[in-house]
Amino acid sequence: MANKFITTPIYYVNARPHIGHAYTTVVADTLARYFKEKGDNVFFLTGTDEHGAKIAQAAERANKAPKQYVSELASDFRATWQGLNIGYSQFIRTSDPQHEKVVVDFVQRLKDAGFIDKRRYSGLYCIACEKYLAPEELENGLCPDHKTKPVSQTEENYFFTLSRFQKKLMRAIERNELAIAPATRRNEVLGKLRAGLEDVSISRANVAWGIPFPNDGSQTIYVWVDALINYYSATEMYGGLSSWAEHPADVHFIGKDILWFHAVIWPAMLLALGLPLPKAIATHGFFTVKGEKMSKTLGNVLDPLLLAKEYGVDPLRYALSSTFPFGEDGDFSKEVIMQKYESELANELGNLLQRVLVMINKYKLCSLVAKKKSVKHETMKKNSREEFGAVGEHIENYRFDLALNAIWDIIRQGNETIEKEKPWALAKNNKTKLEEVMQNEYKRLLLVAYLIRPFMPATSSAMERQLTSCEPEPLFPRINS
Ligand code: MSP
Repeated sequence: MANKFITTPIYYVNARPHIGHAYTTVVADTLARYFKEKGDNVFFLTGTDEHGAKIAQAAERANKAPKQYVSELASDFRATWQGLNIGYSQFIRTSDPQHEKVVVDFVQRLKDAGFIDKRRYSGLYCIACEKYLAPEELENGLCPDHKTKPVSQTEENYFFTLSRFQKKLMRAIERNELAIAPATRRNEVLGKLRAGLEDVSISRANVAWGIPFPNDGSQTIYVWVDALINYYSATEMYGGLSSWAEHPADVHFIGKDILWFHAVIWPAMLLALGLPLPKAIATHGFFTVKGEKMSKTLGNVLDPLLLAKEYGVDPLRYALSSTFPFGEDGDFSKEVIMQKYESELANELGNLLQRVLVMINKYKLCSLVAKKKSVKHETMKKNSREEFGAVGEHIENYRFDLALNAIWDIIRQGNETIEKEKPWALAKNNKTKLEEVMQNEYKRLLLVAYLIRPFMPATSSAMERQLTSCEPEPLFPRINS
């Protein structure tokens, strides 16, 4: 049995969860469930990032005290993940005093080890990014991601001597000790690293909503430093699988916008303390909705909980995981979910289950195909573990889309076999062949139920129930949208 430590980013609580957050969380959950299914011991961590200027501003806009505001939003995230059937092990909040204590200790150790000094710094700060932008990064004087004007700041800050880690980081990435997927993202990081590294400011003089810097109450710890340490503090707070030193994260799931923090700043912080690096960073692309960036102003922000209510949890999980290759940008909309619901879910999977069970009933074959009821589940697990094969490989390579394609090939073959073998004709003239065909289709469905379990846990259970009772019920009833 192996141990796996899987993380999502901790989400900013400046707004309710949207479909971009749901994507990261659903694919991470799928990988976690897959490992569990294979018998691994999994620690799956998610949570919320609750400090910093951006959150303080959001609380102010909502006319609430920061602590109350972040607690409400953290509950929204928890409720959303519950609604999407996310089986996380722990939900960490950076305003938890236990986490705060670990962060202070971590920063103190960086300081003791000689990686922190105090300097005067002037720069252009984007509050939405929570980072300084270099002049060459700006587009017409604006932040390229948020289209807002960064504010000019001059402060005396504590700096982390990131530049000292350039060579070590490059080596770790080149040797895939720190694997970055997909390859394009890995190259991007290596390219930037080659160009050189600058030290980074890791404290803020004018942000009250944060963790006080050790031995200097006039500054708070930079929100990104506070946030990145969550992966480590979770192992200290909850035990995790074991300590970070013994078992660092196997994979951090992130979006491409936060790659630099995860592939460079976080690993450098770990190297500075002699702690092991995460084994992998899996980076996904960004969603647009009908070609537009999601934004409150455009009013096109898709709420995952509402979508799950409208289409069902599993259809939403399915549509998110199957629509685009992990790592690439993609476009998403209700139409995409509906189209997938009708064609792949209802017409292909739902239809195969329905027709097979209807025929099994009609030809009175239930006792034959499902006769080993008590051992069925175990047998199925044993057989299909071997057969996770290509599907498992795709999942382990974060190609959730290809894994689902491979499962759908099996489903399509089922529908094709039925068209070809025509059980209704066999029922009249070849009982032996009929039994063989139905037995095979029954087994195929058991396998499919097993293979889809990490993606669509509830549908998998519903399929198993129906296969045990031989009572067909529509898996994906028609919805009017
Ligand atoms: N709080 C930081 C992460 C700290 S991790 C130590 C943060 N939070 S976030 O809420 O802004 O974003 C969290 C994740 O959601 C990121 O991985 C980001 O890429 C992802 N997404 C945000 N908008 C997205 C889309 N439109 N599409 C896909 N994913 C997107 O960054």
